[in-house]
Amino acid sequence: MTGTNNEKESARQRDYMDRVRVLTEGRGLKYMVVTFGCQMNEKDSEKIAGSLQKMGYEKASSEEEADVLVYNTCTVRENADKRLYGRLGVCKSYKEKKKEMIIAVCGCMMQEEHVVERIRGSYAYVDIIFGTHNIFRFAELLFNRLDSGSQIIDIWKETDEIVEDLPSARKYSFKSGINIMYGCDNFCSYCIVPYVRGRERSRDPVEIIREIERAAADGVVEVMLLGQNVNSYGKGLDTRVSFAMLLKEAASVPGIRRVRFMTSHPKDLSDELIDVIAENEIIARHIHLPLQSGSDRILKEMNRHYSKESYIGLADRIRKEIPDVSITTDIIAGFPGETERDVEDTLDVIERVRFDGAFTFEYSRRSGTPAADMEQLDKVFVQKSFDRVLKTVQRVSREQASRFKGRTMEVLVEGEDEKDPARYTGRISQNLVVHFPKETAKVGDMLQVTLDECMGFYYNGKIIGHG
Ligand code: SAH
Ligand code: SF4
Ligand code: F3S
Repeated sequence: MTGTNNEKESARQRDYMDRVRVLTEGRGLKYMVVTFGCQMNEKDSEKIAGSLQKMGYEKASSEEEADVLVYNTCTVRENADKRLYGRLGVCKSYKEKKKEMIIAVCGCMMQEEHVVERIRGSYAYVDIIFGTHNIFRFAELLFNRLDSGSQIIDIWKETDEIVEDLPSARKYSFKSGINIMYGCDNFCSYCIVPYVRGRERSRDPVEIIREIERAAADGVVEVMLLGQNVNSYGKGLDTRVSFAMLLKEAASVPGIRRVRFMTSHPKDLSDELIDVIAENEIIARHIHLPLQSGSDRILKEMNRHYSKESYIGLADRIRKEIPDVSITTDIIAGFPGETERDVEDTLDVIERVRFDGAFTFEYSRRSGTPAADMEQLDKVFVQKSFDRVLKTVQRVSREQASRFKGRTMEVLVEGEDEKDPARYTGRISQNLVVHFPKETAKVGDMLQVTLDECMGFYYNGKIIGHG
């Protein structure tokens, strides 16, 4: 879609926002958006919330209190699906008490036909169902629902549209996620994301930088560039631009003090990227580099396009070129056909790379993916492998975290410590959390903090300077 069409579409949606606003004016209506899943979903939810605010709704303090309740769903693993159905069950009682309440469901689960069928069948009181490709049309869908009074279902199979310039309500004042690309073309054999998020599309770099500049003008000091595989950013664009170039430019936006990114696929992390990070202190000393498995045989079955040794080689290069960097990862235990020997390869990578943190998942069968048709493992065996991986990774990460003890590091203040209102919680560039007495600091400040006491995966410290 061309820029002009894009502008036309956002103007159309703004028009719908005005039309809904006429209906809501002066009624004190409230909304709630509940988000499951990853940062991309968080970002989409901010857009939905932004539209709702433009349409005259205010944020509710609970799901029950909302007049418009939106569930933005995730389907990457089965337990994410189960959580939605549980919540929708509870919604029935809300609606019995408040007939006018509008319940909308959107996000990745809605791109699966069986889900939409199930909601139509068993949760017929859901008012609006839409998917990941037409999220920018939310205002139109809500207007149509209010206007017609009937259930609205609108799911697109694909899209090549990227609609910019719609409102967004940031969850945090000082940090923001920035989409740099949508979709995924990697088709890892276990993963549903390419089916529910569509083909990979990179955003225009000028639009991205403009969004970061606007965020900085609003007081944002940390941005996180988001994509399923940020290293392949730039493919298909008219401008020749690599992720490393974009990252460098993002880090030079005035007012931005820290730039993070998520996620890097090990198969195409370039030396250019390592150099750009090494040379630029504003870019976080943290790379999330999902390993998934340490076994060459399983990596091949997973369609990951790297080997155990090439992954270790890459991690070594990163650690050598970027001193103090933290490397975190994702690991799946129990992929079809995985044996004890495969798990041992994974444990070996954990010991050799010395991950600073890891998300460990039990393999979850997603229908429609190639791995779903492979012979699945026994659940008890999967659980055993999972426990072994988890134990090793926790020990290594705890040891890694303690390496900063006694150092003074730059910390971004994120908010009040939940357990102690006299203290703040902040994060160092490596993504470790630190708690410290507030003194005169504010949320969003960048401080010098000493990391006095290592508490396993976080620190207690004290402020010794500002800036
Ligand atoms: N694009 C990112 C990952 C996004 S999904 C990447 O490739 O690195 C986040 C994580 O969920 C993945 O890294 C993987 O570890 C996990 N995951 C994805 N599909 C899964 C499945 N079917 N079962 C278990 N874990 C899965
Ligand atoms: Fe899924 Fe692989 Fe794409 Fe990540 S790169 S979203 S794991 S298919
Ligand atoms: Fe889940 Fe969709 Fe993200 S499936 S992990 S919310 S892309």
